[in-house]
Amino acid sequence: MTHEAQTVLPRRILLGVTGGIAAYKAADLVRRLREGGAEVQVILTEGAARFVTPMTFQALSGRPVRVGLWDEAAEAAMGHIELARWAELVLVAPASADFLARLAAGMANDLLTTTCLATTAPIAVAPAMNQQMWSAAATQANITTLRQRSVRVLGPGVGSQACGEQGAGRLLEPADIAAQVLSSSADGGLLSGRHIVITAGPTREPIDPVRFLSNRSSGKMGFAVAQAAREAGARVTLISGPVHLPTPLGVERINVETAAQMYAAVHAVMDDCDVYIGAAAVADYTPHCCAENKIKKTSDTLDLHLEKSPDILASVAALSKRPYVVGFAAETTNVEAHALAKLERKKLDLIAANEVGAERAFDRDDNALLLLWSGGRQALGLQSKADLAREFITFIAHRVSARSDGE
Ligand code: CTP
Repeated sequence: MTHEAQTVLPRRILLGVTGGIAAYKAADLVRRLREGGAEVQVILTEGAARFVTPMTFQALSGRPVRVGLWDEAAEAAMGHIELARWAELVLVAPASADFLARLAAGMANDLLTTTCLATTAPIAVAPAMNQQMWSAAATQANITTLRQRSVRVLGPGVGSQACGEQGAGRLLEPADIAAQVLSSSADGGLLSGRHIVITAGPTREPIDPVRFLSNRSSGKMGFAVAQAAREAGARVTLISGPVHLPTPLGVERINVETAAQMYAAVHAVMDDCDVYIGAAAVADYTPHCCAENKIKKTSDTLDLHLEKSPDILASVAALSKRPYVVGFAAETTNVEAHALAKLERKKLDLIAANEVGAERAFDRDDNALLLLWSGGRQALGLQSKADLAREFITFIAHRVSARSDGE
């Protein structure tokens, strides 16, 4: 079992990159922000474009990069006022001494400063410069002015600098910047103060040292739900079978392989769990015992003796101090009837049913769900798994708070 923890952010981030040797680190920042679920639009200042190319940022952000204020074609697509309105956060990293001075003075002499003046979104800056430039009275006065205007100042870090000096002025690590920007956005969300445990992906049941039984689950839905829960302010523990997906920012991830390991990992974190969401495709059966050595093909047929694996979802629902329990039902036929039977049999609070099979393949980026509970149903239409997960989490948050209010 392995543990990983990473961190998150807001939905639409306008990332300004200014001129300085640390500009290359902004490339990694774009990647981390996107992994955290944000859309990122990059503006490079002309100085930044001497250190890094717009092409790099275009590839990483998946959007055309803006450089100049006077680019007619770009202004016709998404003008600077639209950019300013689009942003939920303007993040400038690295922020040079020159940029901080211009921002403090309220100048609008390039696209980035103009956009900062035109936006109502919060602004955060991550300064990066030589330590003497950082401690200079002019820079410190600019920082004081910006703080007074509620600009958030992230860092700078202390340490060795590209110029060979030691001191304050290093750009914070991209992971730290993403973490700080993201976690604050989740405070006060619908699920803040709640601990949500989510399982995702397939399990692998070993047959011998080189073979296993598994299934087609990609883990995408469970990971999207974990990210949506984190965005809604929850503390999220994601217990995942083997998948090729990055950990959503701010989510604690526990990697497991078998159903038995998943069972143990889940029960180890049940103490303060408020909501349990079983999105994993847990193997229903596991080989009776794993052969010690590789099985040789010495006979024409091979019998595998399988045993039922523990039902994790039902075991959580049977706890005396139980969380709000949500199951998934992936069905090929009679979706609603099978899902309702599962809801009752496993004593769940809610079940999310979906159709799987040839047409509704597992490894897709979109999905639809039918939510069923005792006395109600609600369909969530076909959409990207990220959007669907947000709707799903919002629904769960309302049910959970209605239940707490009724207690
Ligand atoms: N599940 C679980 N532990 C298992 C098997 C399933 O926690 N050993 C959970 C899944 O995470 C999912 C739900 O149970 O939330 C439904 O899984 P499914 O395998 O379809 O349920 P079964 O009760 O096995 O139903 P079926 O008769 O379709 O096999």
